[in-house]
Amino acid sequence: MSAEPVATAPEKGPRHVALIMDGNGRWAQRRGLPRAVGHREGVQALRRTIKAAPELGVECLTVFGFSTENWSRPADEVSDLMGLVRAFVGSDLNRLDAAGVRVKVLGRRKGLPSDIAAIVERAEAQTAGNDKFLLQVAFNYGGRADLVDAAQRLVDRARAGEDVVVDEEMLGTGLSTAGSPPVDLIVRTSGEQRLSNFLLWEAAYAEMVFQEILWPDYGAEALAEAIAQFGQRERRYGGREAVTAPYGEAVS
Ligand code: FPP
Repeated sequence: MSAEPVATAPEKGPRHVALIMDGNGRWAQRRGLPRAVGHREGVQALRRTIKAAPELGVECLTVFGFSTENWSRPADEVSDLMGLVRAFVGSDLNRLDAAGVRVKVLGRRKGLPSDIAAIVERAEAQTAGNDKFLLQVAFNYGGRADLVDAAQRLVDRARAGEDVVVDEEMLGTGLSTAGSPPVDLIVRTSGEQRLSNFLLWEAAYAEMVFQEILWPDYGAEALAEAIAQFGQRERRYGGREAVTAPYGEAVS
């Protein structure tokens, strides 16, 4: 734990950007199109954003693909979203792999349709050795559920006889984001200003940027704009003065 309150003036851009890709439905509705078309265009926006991120100095992107709460949407919409994941992995996995992208899927595997669970395993296994860029897709993910699972892992380890000390570091190792760089910036599109159970723990010191743009219209320009807003923030991590720390260093 560092003794000094630490802050970083974000001289560099964010290493880790997390995206709440909101507004697919409204994008479609405004055009008189089915919501499914909005989600399909949302995948195109995701492709553009994944391409732009490393060009803007980002090392890791985490995107909210499907939340534990999204199961309550009508069955045909849930099925559309599952279909898009199948199609996305089918069409993009080899290209992402060739570009050195490591794909990790955050969230509970239990409850996923078995073919999706297999696709997730394949995407992770195929790209496990890549280190040029990290793409984390939150799927069947909820921040509270992830914290519950992390706590359960500690309980299991203690029951197995391990001497477990419950502290932030130990709990953090059980989260599905363990090992990824600290989240610097969380972006939500479509004008909504909520976390909606995304990355609750990881959001502790993240900057947040809310953009009016609907997700299907997103791409390099909008991401650059979010990063420019991040660059104007003063990060204090609970301290009073902005002092400089090595970029990305974990602080408490
Ligand atoms: C929010 O729009 C978006 C989602 C619930 C899903 C996001 C999914 C994708 C962009 C495509 C599939 C994902 C992957 C990982 C391939 P909304 O439907 O809540 O929009 P609304 O608020 O305007 O109704």
